[in-house]
Amino acid sequence: MKILVVGSGGREHAIIKKLRESEGVTDIICAPGNGGIADLAECVSVSATDIDGMVKLAKERNVDFAVVAPDDPLAMGMVDRLEEAGIPAFGPDAKAAQIEASKVFAKELMQRANIRTAAAEVFTDPDKAKAYIKKTGVPTVIKADGLAKGKGVIIAQTEKEAEDAVDDMLCGGMFGNAGSRIIVEEFLEGTEASIMCFCDGKTVVPMISSQDHKRQYDGDLGKNTGGMGAFAPTPAYTEEIARDVEENILQPTVKAMRDMGCPFKGVLYAGLMLTKKGAYVLEYNARFGDPETQVVLPMLRSDLLKIMQACREGTLSECDIAWEKGGCCVVVMTSGGYPDKYENGFEIKGLADAESEKTWVIHAGTKRDGEKMLTSGGRVLGVCAKGDTVLTAVKSAYEAVEKISFHNAFYRRDIGGKIH
Ligand code: AMP
Ligand code: GLY
Repeated sequence: MKILVVGSGGREHAIIKKLRESEGVTDIICAPGNGGIADLAECVSVSATDIDGMVKLAKERNVDFAVVAPDDPLAMGMVDRLEEAGIPAFGPDAKAAQIEASKVFAKELMQRANIRTAAAEVFTDPDKAKAYIKKTGVPTVIKADGLAKGKGVIIAQTEKEAEDAVDDMLCGGMFGNAGSRIIVEEFLEGTEASIMCFCDGKTVVPMISSQDHKRQYDGDLGKNTGGMGAFAPTPAYTEEIARDVEENILQPTVKAMRDMGCPFKGVLYAGLMLTKKGAYVLEYNARFGDPETQVVLPMLRSDLLKIMQACREGTLSECDIAWEKGGCCVVVMTSGGYPDKYENGFEIKGLADAESEKTWVIHAGTKRDGEKMLTSGGRVLGVCAKGDTVLTAVKSAYEAVEKISFHNAFYRRDIGGKIH
């Protein structure tokens, strides 16, 4: 079978690495891909948001199955368009992808289906939003409705910060159209956990839990990033919590989507806050998380392509989905300066040395230049390891990180909770 994977980051590299183990996969095309993906797939330079270009590529190359991994093309309806063109595609259609693309849609769904989430109100009028903030107090959380590259959430510690965030989004056009409606919501305290699930519109099968590290610096300081590292499973997500989440969050979510006429097929990601009062939904994503995928998929013992096909065909309940014991960790190496300004084009050394039986390197922002591998993005590499426990995986990942170097490389030293 010939598979097309849409996207270019670490998540896509991890998906392709797993698909390479699937029975019957002969060719993989990745558009646009990256320097590391080029070892496992043919990279074709069509942008992930070029819907017409992607449909044309899939048709010209007789693709048997497409996997749309990033949020933007899903929200733009790439799966709808591929399916219309006769190409089976994994991922939600545009209607179902709203669960991520519109935080207002997601909040209303949760309120209607009685799913635990932060108390919130939706605003388009800045004065009304400010009056609500005065009434409910700080800290408070201001969220742009639409997709904002992971930057549309402001946690305001003071009333002034909250008011500035309201003005920036509603009047300043900080996130363009994505910020023309905002949500002001209660600040929740606890431990975060990411739960990704396979979904076929009616059945929902949670994968193992994981935890992302979104902030730039050790100790969860600095700016939010696309993710500086992750591990799986997370001990905070106990079996008791998992049962409650499945019954009171995941199944009701999938049922609500079906009842609303937009059954969800693909990967449903619930970003949870585990609070003293139970697990609350912070956000949904309509896709595999990045970097969570890099630590969850390696633990999957079953055939990923078969599961993806079952999600599309509505036969997930017949699928056997098994997970390895032990743990997995990814430490993200970034270009110094990320998520702000950084420079690219530096040679990466030590990549082969970092690979072993239990460690491997996932590429996020890299580019080939003849024999050399160059940095080409903010998040450059995800250095991964498996172990009998999460802790041994963390240790091995850091040992591998030590073997890799490039100019201005930066990474957090506390992924998995310890300082390394
Ligand atoms: P989101 O894009 O909605 O996941 O938000 C990004 C990050 O902001 C989350 O991973 C949390 O760390 C934080 N966050 C979002 N909503 C809340 C909330 N209601 N209370 C506390 N932290 C939040
Ligand atoms: N790691 C969070 C996300 O993929 O949005």
